[in-house]
Amino acid sequence: MRSGGIYNKKFMKQFIANRNEVIQGPSPRVLEVLKNFKPEHANLYLEDYYHSILIPKISEIFGIPEEQIITSYGEEDFFRTIFDEIDPKKDSVLTHSFHYAYYKKYLDCKSVALNTFEMREENESFVFDIENCIQQYQKTKPKILLLTSPNNPTGNSISAEELEKLLKNITAKILVVVDEAYWGFDERYDQKTFLSLLDRYPNLVFLRSFSKLYALAGLRIGFALCGSNVKNILKYQNRYLGLSRILEEVAIAALESDDYYKKLSMEVVGDRKSFINELRNFKNFQPFSSKANFVLVRIANNDIAERLRNALQKEEVVVCKFVDDNFLRVSVGEKKLTGKFLKLLERIDRMF
Ligand SMILES: Cc1ncc(COP(=O)(O)O)c(C=O)c1O
Repeated sequence: MRSGGIYNKKFMKQFIANRNEVIQGPSPRVLEVLKNFKPEHANLYLEDYYHSILIPKISEIFGIPEEQIITSYGEEDFFRTIFDEIDPKKDSVLTHSFHYAYYKKYLDCKSVALNTFEMREENESFVFDIENCIQQYQKTKPKILLLTSPNNPTGNSISAEELEKLLKNITAKILVVVDEAYWGFDERYDQKTFLSLLDRYPNLVFLRSFSKLYALAGLRIGFALCGSNVKNILKYQNRYLGLSRILEEVAIAALESDDYYKKLSMEVVGDRKSFINELRNFKNFQPFSSKANFVLVRIANNDIAERLRNALQKEEVVVCKFVDDNFLRVSVGEKKLTGKFLKLLERIDRMF
């Protein structure tokens, strides 16, 4: 484990590391910025474009016009912005089954209907059923189509071809949101192909978070890369006084720490691969392939699940979360912790 990491068992009775945070911690450059934040940067508003130094940086890196970028206090902040625009009396949201629990929690609270299209199981993976999505879209006429890629908790992602097929079948008045909170752990993702869709589909928006790959969940930073009409559809007004200055400086430092995060991403990819391979030898725990820093695991029956629940109470570090009685989501990426958890699963597997 890296010495700069956040895991320190001295301070905690039971360390819960099951929300897919990256426990190795952020880059040394980010830590420097946090340590050396200048007090004189605290008392004045920013003056640049939209009162932001981060937006021009994102624009430069991703080749997207500054007007088409929105920054937020984590993706959650952006979700509130878009969900709060919805009229519960006439509008609904369409997403896939097996979706991030927060969507439903928030929309339920606003009395907004959340409809779902299907996911299929194919070759140890979940896949989005694109045909079913188009059918559900035609049937429910949602205000927002929301896709999560890689998806939490299943770990599968959408391809650029699948996404384009959907976009071609959807009117440009509907907002198509792709939540890419787990971006960065897929060695084959072609950023150029995906982002070039923004030129052709003005209603498309990609959401990115600094919480996962960049290991900054506690600081709450996110951004949206938008098609040219997204702000109009949302009636979005830029933040009048900008985002917190320290967060902007930290986010820039993270974006400028490419070498560190590439290495970190490779560590996660390697750890995920060996976790899945090891688990394939077990009788009672079936792993699904994943493009994120977690792996979905099917548990063979309720007795085994119960045994695992009991065993977890005695664990010093808990890296998994029950999605329901038979599915477990395991955060991976840190070899020592994954190895320890595998040993626990192996012990239980042998009992049944
Ligand atoms: C799919 C998905 N989207 C968004 C978020 C929240 O992102 P943020 O920390 O940027 O608010 C999470 C957090 O776990 C998530 O799993």
